[in-house]
Amino acid sequence: MADTKLRTSRMHLLFVLPLVLEVQSISKSHNFTYDCTCHLELKISNCTSSNFTHLPAALPPFTEQLDLSLNHLSAIRPQAFHSTPRLRILLLNDNMIAMLANGAFSLLEGLLRLDLSRNRISFLSEGFSRGLGSLRDLSLAENRLSSLDSSCFVHFDALQRLNLSHNAIETIKMRAFGSMSTLRQLQLNSNNLTVLKNGIFSMLRNL
Ligand SMILES: *[C@@H]1O[C@H](CO)[C@@H](O)[C@H](O)[C@H]1NC(C)=O
Ligand SMILES: *[C@@H]1O[C@H](CO)[C@@H](O)[C@H](O)[C@H]1NC(C)=O
Ligand SMILES: *[C@@H]1O[C@H](CO)[C@@H](O)[C@H](O)[C@H]1NC(C)=O
Ligand SMILES: *[C@@H]1O[C@H](CO)[C@@H](O)[C@H](O)[C@H]1NC(C)=O
Ligand SMILES: *[C@@H]1O[C@H](CO)[C@@H](O)[C@H](O)[C@H]1NC(C)=O
Repeated sequence: MADTKLRTSRMHLLFVLPLVLEVQSISKSHNFTYDCTCHLELKISNCTSSNFTHLPAALPPFTEQLDLSLNHLSAIRPQAFHSTPRLRILLLNDNMIAMLANGAFSLLEGLLRLDLSRNRISFLSEGFSRGLGSLRDLSLAENRLSSLDSSCFVHFDALQRLNLSHNAIETIKMRAFGSMSTLRQLQLNSNNLTVLKNGIFSMLRNL
């Protein structure tokens, strides 16, 4: 009897110990990957100003806020953020991003804010908005967009603020804003718009 009890408690100990050790080692090394500061309690991974040319490989999966601003990223691959599916805020501003793959942000179903300002984005494909049905706040300011296709924002169901200022937008396709009935704030200043077709903004009932 006593023997069985001892064995069970030992088994518990064996089971619990690795978990505890793992947490301790994470807590101790405050920088999870080199040049990222990770706050376990706040669920923030801060990789700002670290000269990253590629996404850091081992980010903590619990991360809800990821700051990758002021790096040298040039492309975002499909499902690039699959290891951090709980992201709510993603800051990618002030990089050199020219290529956003189809589905770059898919799997980020809880993402609320995405900052892509001050990059080199000249084209948004239909897959750009895929999986971003919860996104409320998007900045694409200070990029190189010259036209907005009718499909580039189709998967946004909750977008409230969209900043497109300081691009080179000349044409906006008829249905570009068609799906965004939740939009409240749209910034299009400092672009090259000369002609606005009738009906472009007709879906924006809450603006
Ligand atoms: C964390 O990063 C700093 C430099 O950014 C380094 O000096 C320090 O040794 C690192 N700490 C650990 C535990 O890796
Ligand atoms: C990341 O760190 C920088 C300075 O170290 C700070 O300005 C910035 O607000 C931090 N980002 C987040 C998301 O907390
Ligand atoms: C980033 O690169 C610049 C220029 O090469 C260098 O001065 C700076 O120390 C680097 N920063 C980090 C965090 O490695
Ligand atoms: C939109 O982006 C521009 C350029 O970066 C910035 O000056 C402006 O404050 C932004 N607007 C909002 C509402 O954040
Ligand atoms: C947009 O306008 C700016 C200044 O008004 C001009 O320098 C630039 O060439 C224009 N871009 C395009 C694509 O027409």
